[in-house]
Order: sequence, then C-alpha cells, then structure tokens
Amino acid sequence: MSDVETLPQAAPARPTLPPPMGLLAELTHRCSLRCPYCSNPLELDRRSQELSTAEWKRLIDEAAALGVLHIYFSGGEPMLRRDIAELVAHARDAGLYTNMITSGVGFQPAVLDAVAEAGLDHIQLSVQAIDARTCDRVAGYEGAAERKRIVAAAIARLGLRLTVNAVIHRENVHEIPAFVELAEAWDAARIEIAHVQYYGWGLVNRARLMPTRQQVETAMVQVDEARSRTVGRLVIDSVLPDYYARYPKACMGGWGARLMNVTPSGRALPCHAAETIAGLAFDNVREASLSEIWYRGAAFNAFRGTDWMKEPCRSCARKEQDFGGCRCQAMALAGDAAATDPACSLSPLHEKLVALAEAEAASERSDFIYRGYQGV
Ligand code: SF4
Ligand code: FES
Repeated sequence: MSDVETLPQAAPARPTLPPPMGLLAELTHRCSLRCPYCSNPLELDRRSQELSTAEWKRLIDEAAALGVLHIYFSGGEPMLRRDIAELVAHARDAGLYTNMITSGVGFQPAVLDAVAEAGLDHIQLSVQAIDARTCDRVAGYEGAAERKRIVAAAIARLGLRLTVNAVIHRENVHEIPAFVELAEAWDAARIEIAHVQYYGWGLVNRARLMPTRQQVETAMVQVDEARSRTVGRLVIDSVLPDYYARYPKACMGGWGARLMNVTPSGRALPCHAAETIAGLAFDNVREASLSEIWYRGAAFNAFRGTDWMKEPCRSCARKEQDFGGCRCQAMALAGDAAATDPACSLSPLHEKLVALAEAEAASERSDFIYRGYQGV
C-alpha cells in the first residue's frame, strides 16, 4: 500500500501525483559571502534553529522512502556544517544521488576531502566573475577568487564531477566566453550560466544588476557559439533574465511538481523563495513527514495543476508548458501569486516591467547593497 493511500482521507487527494525528484536540503544559512543577489530569505535562520544531524538523517530516510532520487546539499554554505560528511555518507547509503552546492569559501580543505571520501557524487562551485577583483567585490569577500581556484584544483584532484555555476548580471555579462573557457580549464562536465533572478536580495539590488537588452542578446549568441564549440565535452545550461523574454520560465518545473526545499530550521517549501508569498502556511518537517507534506501540505497544493489560474493563463495554450511562470515573481511584481507572471508578454503588466528593466539597466552604476550575517 502506498503512502498516499494510508494518509487521512479528509485532506485533498492527488493519488496520481509522482513523488518529488529532488530534495534541496538547505543545511544552514551561514555563509562567508554576501552576494548581492542572494536567494536566501531576507530573514535568515539562526544556527541555534538548525535541524540536528539526527533530524537531517531521518529526513534523508523519509526522502528515499518517498521516492526522491537526488539530494542537493545547499545553504548558505553547506560545508560549514560539521556533520556534512556524515550526512553525505548517510544519503549515499540511502541510495540518493548526492550533490553539493558550494561557494568554495569559508571551510577547511580537509572538509572537501571528507565529503569526497564519503562518496559525494557531484559538486557545483559558484564563480562570481572571471576578473578576480570583480569576483571579490560581488562576493563581498576579499580573496574569494583565489580561494575558488584552489578549491577547483582540489575538486579535480579528488575526481569529483563538477558543475561551474556562473550567476550573470550587468557586471559580468561580458565574460560569458571566459566563463566557458574557465569551465573547460577546470575540467567541468557542465556550466550553468544563469542570469540573476530578482527575488529576495536580488530584488533589493535589481537596478545594480540588470543588464541591457543588447547585453542579453549578445550573451545568448555567445552561449550558442560556445555550445557549438564544446559539443560532446561540456554541457552548457543557460537561464535568461526573463524580464526581456517573451514567455516566462517554467519555474521549478511547476509548483509542487518536482522539488522540495527544506530550510535550515525545517520548513518545507515548494521553492526557495516561497516564503515571500503572503498567506501561505508552511509545514515543518519536525511536525509532519515529508510524504504528508508533499501530498497533503496546503502550501504544496496551493498552485499545483492549472485550476488556480486566472486569465490570460487560464485559457492559454502554454499553460501546461510554463505553468504561468513564477509564483514568487508574480507576488513580487503583481502583488498576487496567482496572477500571470509579469515576465510574460501576455501579462497586462509586462510593458511596464520591460520599461522598468530598461531604465534600470541604463542607470548609473552604484555600489551593491550587501546583506549582513550578524547573529546568524
Ligand atoms: Fe504562460 Fe500564462 Fe503567459 Fe500563457 S499567459 S504564456 S500560460 S504565463
Ligand atoms: Fe518561487 Fe519561482 S521562485 S515559484
């Protein structure tokens, strides 16, 4: 008998819903960097609130039983957790494919050796810019570029499968060919060229980060050229800044469709920014099982499927393709999470959004607003 069948009958049932493919385990919000587009919430969880080793292990077991295939250890900086190698080993033993999403900064080299020894399958290393001074300035950390170079060398020595994460904005958008060359030099299997998404701290710094339309168009051509040049050697994933796109991205592959996100203190979210949506209540894994939350949780069911949609999404032929875009962006820009994402050219707010993006992209460069981590 499946988990779905054994759950209470009073809650809304979705018996045909597949389990999540991935679990994003945000082990901690602690981090040495202060990236001006940080996607973590404006209000961070404190160390004293973090789930314990035993709680994460129980969660990993629940995820494996539910049918999750991949676990992404994330943060903050996940390698700041003293139990990180223990958690990687536990996830491997539970049969999960283990990924680490790291800045490469703030932990001792021995930690990387330990997670490799524990069987880590894959690592994603963020790089803020090719130019070292820009990298350090964007990261808000002197020496970040040098530290990342050292960590990349250690990753190669340990034989870990590597993805380079390049977050793109107006200060580094001209470096795309160099990012691809760096990924090749580091022997990466993949590079993710992702333009900043404007939620959380990214929204605070949007005017400082927004590239021009011309820069974005050039970047798209450069990505295509790089793909042709590196075919069979390097996978290049690219995420556009959707303010300039015709249609929005299918954020999270659909709400509550593929991924679960668990915050350091145990709140289970359908996406990392879901807490920006007013009125949603989130279950905590300390009080309910992952299975219960995935199938019955109110937040996970809030925007599943297409019944919740308003016009123009409701009668749009693309509604099963992009699911109306991003709920968090709709909340941030339209004040209504059920509205059509204003990044969509069919949204009544789209023209205003494009005009705003163009004005911000043309504005004078000014210093980033960095987040502080005092007390976290
Ligand atoms: Fe997607 Fe809605 Fe735009 Fe149609 S109207 S393309 S479903 S966001
Ligand atoms: Fe939350 Fe897109 S970031 S739905």
